[in-house]
Amino acid sequence: PIPVILDCDPGHDDAFAIILAAFSPEELSLLAITTVSGNQSLEKTTLNALRILHACGFKENSILVAKGASAPLMLPELAEPDNQAESTALNTNCDSSCYQPLTGRHPVEVHGETGMDGADFPLTVIPKIEHRKAWNLMADIVQLYSPEFPVTVIATGPLTNIALFVTLYPELRKNIRIVFMGGTFERGNIHPTAEFNILHDPEAAHIVFHSGVSLTMIPLDLTHQVLVTEDILERIHALNTPFAKNMAGLIEFFRNSYQRTFGFASPPLHDPCAVAYVLDPRRFETQFIRVEVETGKGLCAGQTVGDFYGHFFKKPKNIYVVQKMDIEWFWNRMLQSLTKANEQ
Ligand code: BDR
Ligand code: CA
Repeated sequence: PIPVILDCDPGHDDAFAIILAAFSPEELSLLAITTVSGNQSLEKTTLNALRILHACGFKENSILVAKGASAPLMLPELAEPDNQAESTALNTNCDSSCYQPLTGRHPVEVHGETGMDGADFPLTVIPKIEHRKAWNLMADIVQLYSPEFPVTVIATGPLTNIALFVTLYPELRKNIRIVFMGGTFERGNIHPTAEFNILHDPEAAHIVFHSGVSLTMIPLDLTHQVLVTEDILERIHALNTPFAKNMAGLIEFFRNSYQRTFGFASPPLHDPCAVAYVLDPRRFETQFIRVEVETGKGLCAGQTVGDFYGHFFKKPKNIYVVQKMDIEWFWNRMLQSLTKANEQ
């Protein structure tokens, strides 16, 4: 199986990404989960990762979980313990010409106060968290591999931990490849032209885009095609256990958020698409292009800008952008993994 580290910020859709990665043992070997501030504070996203693992039967320590960054690279003042309060203060101080304060903010309107509202997973798990920081754990694992057999780092949150890893351990860049959910070339979901994971920490995205590591990007343009229809929701309910009820609860909360915020009838399920790509890239269509990210302030902060013609940027191509996926196959694989998690 392909060795994988999942870097995430659970997160409704991150929860499904964890399940797809943890319950696809023929294709993937999930070596560790690392967490980052994003959909909620680092404390909450870490707790949510543990809650999901616990809910699908993993014993303590059977999958390593390590905490990473509690704030974007350039906003250390947002670091815990008072992360949420400070970002709210910044947002209130923002005038109409200043959009950058969206950076580092947690999208409570989409993921709720816990970051995973809608499910009732027990909060009383005994947290068993690695003492190593996310990027140090990544290094300890990745140095055991080689450029011929690299570790795939799947990122489904802001790219802060990965930017720190490639900066602190440049000699290990050749031992990884990265598949990340983030960015958009069409509509944004945190601002008209920006996707959440990228605008949360644009400098981190810039570092990763310029790292020379093999990069595959799953943008909103793809994930907005992957909608949890009523039929899919029914298939989850039909598993008919408390665990399945909670997973359906996550979808229902996410559906309401997406209806209220964006007018979607059914919500997209972004993050597991990145895991699915690693399971079987033949089910996907990609285009290799140059992508840059806007790190300035203003209306286009956090925008990912792709040169699809290969004409404008006189720089080498750096990212495989995923454009299409076999959606029916995806749902069958997702349901298979949910069924296994349900039985564990
Ligand atoms: C991304 O942002 C978060 O809200 C989701 O978990 C996903 O990773 C989608 O833009
Ligand atoms: Ca996420």
